[in-house]
Amino acid sequence: MFEIAPSILSSDFTRLAEEIEKVKTGGANILHVDVMDGHFVPNITIGLPVVRSLRKATDMKIDCHLMIEEPSRYAVKFVEAGADMVSVHVEIDVHLQRTLTAIREAGGESGIAINPATPLVSLEEALPYADFVLLMSVNPGFGGQKFIPESVDKLRRLKRMIDERGFDTKIEIDGGIDENNIAKIVESGAEIIVAGSAVFGEGKPTEAVRNMIDAATVWV
Ligand code: DX5
Ligand code: ZN
Repeated sequence: MFEIAPSILSSDFTRLAEEIEKVKTGGANILHVDVMDGHFVPNITIGLPVVRSLRKATDMKIDCHLMIEEPSRYAVKFVEAGADMVSVHVEIDVHLQRTLTAIREAGGESGIAINPATPLVSLEEALPYADFVLLMSVNPGFGGQKFIPESVDKLRRLKRMIDERGFDTKIEIDGGIDENNIAKIVESGAEIIVAGSAVFGEGKPTEAVRNMIDAATVWV
């Protein structure tokens, strides 16, 4: 099984509630929220107040992808603000095990996000504390970037690593995914598929989510 997690980064922020309804109608159950601080990544987006508003506006799962320095200071606050899933980048948190545990203790699902150039071996020790891994298939910072083709092989190796250890850690993948490459990605082991520009870019989010689900359903 797989799920589509539309990234609201590419949505029309002046009509956020409507955009959310549209992707839900299309069959999405998870909203991906990209939190950027202008330090860890070269862009600034949205934070806690928006997550609190989203929580009041929808019963969809809220998935916060923290692309920020000092994520351990904020991770639990995102759960308290209403996030169901919170991911922290392995590259920036030297106390990752503690942060992942704190997310779980606060009632959230804990995730480790990993950049394209970061080796999978860096996940090994923290994996038991993660409910999901967020595999980046672009360098984080912006929507609308091109999918890095080597990510498919990395995804397969990550799936093998999780299976070999007998874990049920889910794999989420993020960046440059559209209806042309989603089938291969789902077939390679990803269960949560983030899509920003492919969902919101053409102004027809309901249809776009449906098309992505149809394009990938051949594999499940
Ligand atoms: C990139 C973000 C992504 C982004 C995906 O830094 O983490 O979630 O919104 O956008 P697309 O699907 O357009 O690559
Ligand atoms: Zn993201």
